[in-house]
Amino acid sequence: TSFVNRLSDASLPVERLVSDPLDDLPRGGAIPLPRDLFPGRRNSAGLDLADPAELMALDQSLGNRPLPPLPASDPPTQAIAQALAAFPAWDGIGADARAVLLERAADLFEEHRAALMHLAIVEAGKTITDALAEVREAVDFLRFYAAESRRLLGAATPLPGPVGERNLLTLHGRGVFVCISPWNFPLAIFTGQVAAALACGNCVVAKPAQQTPRMAAEAVRLLYRAGVPRDVLHLCIGGPDTGAVLVEHPDVAGVAFTGSTATARRIHRALAAKDGPIVPLIAETGGINAMIVDSSAQPDQVLIDVMESAFRSAGQRCSALRALLIQREAWVKLEPMLAGALREVVVGNPALLSTDVGPVIDGEAIERLHAHARRLDGHARLVARAPGGEGGLFFAPRAYEIAELTMPESEVFGPILHVAPWRSDQLDAAIDAVNATGYGLTLGIHSRVDATINHILARTRVGNVYVNRSMIGAVVGSQPFGGRGLSGTGPKAGGPNSLSRYATEHCVSINT
Ligand code: SER
Repeated sequence: TSFVNRLSDASLPVERLVSDPLDDLPRGGAIPLPRDLFPGRRNSAGLDLADPAELMALDQSLGNRPLPPLPASDPPTQAIAQALAAFPAWDGIGADARAVLLERAADLFEEHRAALMHLAIVEAGKTITDALAEVREAVDFLRFYAAESRRLLGAATPLPGPVGERNLLTLHGRGVFVCISPWNFPLAIFTGQVAAALACGNCVVAKPAQQTPRMAAEAVRLLYRAGVPRDVLHLCIGGPDTGAVLVEHPDVAGVAFTGSTATARRIHRALAAKDGPIVPLIAETGGINAMIVDSSAQPDQVLIDVMESAFRSAGQRCSALRALLIQREAWVKLEPMLAGALREVVVGNPALLSTDVGPVIDGEAIERLHAHARRLDGHARLVARAPGGEGGLFFAPRAYEIAELTMPESEVFGPILHVAPWRSDQLDAAIDAVNATGYGLTLGIHSRVDATINHILARTRVGNVYVNRSMIGAVVGSQPFGGRGLSGTGPKAGGPNSLSRYATEHCVSINT
C-alpha cells in the first residue's frame, strides 16, 4: 500500500522474474511485519530474524537503525595475490561450470530472501517493497549473467576464412577484476558486478560501499556456499583508501565501478597511471534526469509516474527524476494533483508496509539535502511537501517550482523535485536544457503525440528513455541500464552486451 498504490493499482514496475511474497500480506493501514516473512532463525550476522520487533526498534524520530557488527574483510593486497593465483583454474573450468554455480547462488538468494530483505531494511533503510525489489534484481543478475556466459563463452565461434583455414573466436576472463559498488543498491549492483565478472572467468576482489558492507558480506557468503571457491572471490571492506590500493595495483586487469562521476574520473586517472596491463573501466555514474511533459499527456498517469520516479526509494536512485520540464497548460492541471499526492506520502519506519519513504542513508546525505532545500527556499516556490516533522535521517519529499527553464546544476540525491514549466514554443529549449547537463542516464517523456515523442527521442542523448511510464526500476534483461557522457562508459548492465568488457577475446587461426 505505497502511495503509488493508493493512486493506482497498476503503478508498480513489472519485475517479473521472481515471485512476489508481498501478495500474501494484508494490505492497507499501518501493518507491522508478520512473523512468517522473517522465519525463526539467526542470520550469519547474528540478527534474530524471528522477531519483527527488532525491525520496529528503529528509532522512529531519527531513522537510526540497529546494525549488526561489521563483517570480516580480506586485506587488499593479499586478496589480489590469492585471486591472481586462482585465476587460471577458474578461467579454465569453462562457462557452463561457472554458470551452474551462479544459478545455485540465485537459488540460495531466493531461499534466504527474508534475511537479505531484513538486512536491506536495517542496513540501507529500504522500505519493504524496495527490499524485495533489491533481492529480485540480484537474483535476476545471477541468472541472467549465467545464461549470457553460456551464450557468449560456452563454445568457440567459427569465423569465415579461405579453404584450408579455420578461424575460432573465444572469450576468456581478463584476470583479477576489482568491483566497487554503491550503497543505494547494496545487494543488486554488488551482485550484478560480481556475477558478470565471475561469469567471464575473472577472479574478483569486491569493495562494497562503506555504508552497506553487511549486505555484501551476506551475498559473498551465499556465493561461497553455492560453490564459488574462496580464493576466487574476495570481499574488501573499506573507504576510498582501500579503493585506491585496489585500483592502483599492477596485477588488476579490470575495474567495474558504480558511484559518482568524480570518483569514476579519479579511478580512470589511476588506471592510466599504473603499471601492469592496460585496464578497462566499466563506470556507471550519476545523472541529472528530466521528464519532459507536453499538454497532450494524460494527467493521472503523469502524476503516478512523477511520484514513483522522483520519490520512491527516497529519490536515492541514480535513475530518479530530478527535473520535471512540463508545458504550462499541463502544469496548471498537474500542480494541485501533485500537491495533494505529496501530502499523502508517509515518511517513517521502513519496516512498516504503510511507509512510502524511509530514512536517507546517512548524516552527510541529510545535510546535503537540507542545504539544497535552503538554497531553493531562497529563489524557488515550494509547491508542496510531505507532512510530518523531520529529524535525524528523515527528509520529507517535496517539489519546488523554479522560474527559469533550467536544470539543476548538480545531482541532488534525494526526494527533491524541481519543476520548470515551459511555454508552448519552448519544447526545443527544454531539450537543450536536458542535453546541456552533459549527463545522459534516464529521460522520461509524457505525450500522446507521436511526432513530439519522436522529436524528443531524436534530439536527446541519454541511455534509458521511458515513454508514458515511470523512469526508474530497469528490469534485468528487459531494460539494459546505463548512461552516456558524464553518466558512464557502458556497456549497460543487464543487457546483451554487458559481458563484453568483462571478457577478453582470443582468436586462433589454424592452417589445416
Ligand atoms: N537500475 C536502477 C533503476 O533503474 C537505478 O540504479 O532504477
